[in-house]
Amino acid sequence: MTKHIKQGLVLAASLLAVLPAHFTLAQTLPPVTQILPPTAQTSPDDDNRRGISTRPNERVRILTNMRKYLVGLQWVTEALARDDMQAAIAAVRTMGAVNLYDIKLMFPNKASVEFHNLAFEVHSDFDAIARDAEAKKDPKLMLAQIGTVMKKCTHCHETYRLQDSAH
Ligand code: HEC
Repeated sequence: MTKHIKQGLVLAASLLAVLPAHFTLAQTLPPVTQILPPTAQTSPDDDNRRGISTRPNERVRILTNMRKYLVGLQWVTEALARDDMQAAIAAVRTMGAVNLYDIKLMFPNKASVEFHNLAFEVHSDFDAIARDAEAKKDPKLMLAQIGTVMKKCTHCHETYRLQDSAH
């Protein structure tokens, strides 16, 4: 064992010794209620999200588009990891307005108008990211922008659910 490793071990052992016996990792993390968004704090059996009425075929189209988002995110993540900017841009484009399925709102109430606008925003955000990436070729900026759009994915999932319309 080299001198340095020995010194390191002694240091690690002495650091452990100063920790109180009841010290656990959980105590270093904020309580889960501070991590989760407010809507996720209800019982796991409750679904308090607002329902968006959709016909069965609309539901299929919407969920198909959602899965394309997930695939697009997978592609862009892999492309950025191997520094392939062109593939990353192509992946982001698949989530832009090309992937927009404009649902006709059955009941244009406040919730469904908001839902519709949010869906539209996400598509145009991805188009904007592709344009920026084309101009600046900056993978870090691209990742940061994708992170920001993904807040809209999670916000929408926390707020809305699809609900079969009666007819
Ligand atoms: C305008 C609202 C909205 C936005 C924005 C949104 N989603 Fe969704 N997504 C939904 C709703 C509603 C469902 C269905 C959830 C339910 O009814 O329980 C869903 C379902 C999904 C599903 C499940 C698909 C299936 O086959 O069941 C995936 C995956 C998904 N979304 C990914 C994403 C990703 C990734 C993004 C962002 C790039 C995103 N969504 C943005 C509203 C949205």
